[in-house]
Amino acid sequence: MMDRAQRAAYLEALGIDVWVPRAPSSTATVRPTESADVTPACAISASPGASDGHWDALRAEVLGCTRCGLHAGRTQGVFGVGNPRAEWMVIGEAPGAEEDRRGEPFVGRAGQLLDAMLRAIGLSRAENVYIANVLKSRPPNNRDPRPEEVAACLPYLRRQIDLVRPRVLLAVGRIAAQNLLGTDESLTRLRGRVHRFGELNTPLVVTYHPAYLLRNPADKRKAWEDLKFARSVFRQLTAGVPEDGHRS
Ligand code: URA
Repeated sequence: MMDRAQRAAYLEALGIDVWVPRAPSSTATVRPTESADVTPACAISASPGASDGHWDALRAEVLGCTRCGLHAGRTQGVFGVGNPRAEWMVIGEAPGAEEDRRGEPFVGRAGQLLDAMLRAIGLSRAENVYIANVLKSRPPNNRDPRPEEVAACLPYLRRQIDLVRPRVLLAVGRIAAQNLLGTDESLTRLRGRVHRFGELNTPLVVTYHPAYLLRNPADKRKAWEDLKFARSVFRQLTAGVPEDGHRS
């Protein structure tokens, strides 16, 4: 568990002011909690699929995939990283140059910021979160994914989500959010709400992409609101209280 001082240090690294906790509210609605205590967010859940051969088979399929033209220009497929039994999954867009070289999502500067954001809510790829992208192969010059590439690759992500069975999905950036939700709504409209993904109606929360935050640090504060919102959704789920689907 992260103590108050540690969390303050992470928030400072994000360039986010640390707020003083408010008195607890008497209502049971989902709001961004501002309590200084960070619940150990993720006791590891029983996620049967991720521990059996399906996971390795899926990984092998992804690494050998030639379903779209991107395979020709990649160094390697980037399957995902983290705990395949995690209760949280973070979904990004596509590997960049560094990810393509190292075979792991979010290892460049954006990845360092993502790690700091996750640490601020008690999550880490080494322990209690699984991180994957919509696309498993790097698009040239980091261009946006094309519809046919998403159509070819999204089934892999769906299977990953089915196997991990996270309690909460965090979509980082417009591309991930729009493709997971099958919408063209703007990121601004998608933030601050609990969406539902897949047959299990997994709660999905949307926030900014860390690469965007590197270019627009003033929005880190809003991203912090989103992270607290996601954490409050998770906490209410794990406390057995239904979330109301909206931030105040
Ligand atoms: N951006 C993404 O969306 N995913 C990565 O893995 C790296 C950068």
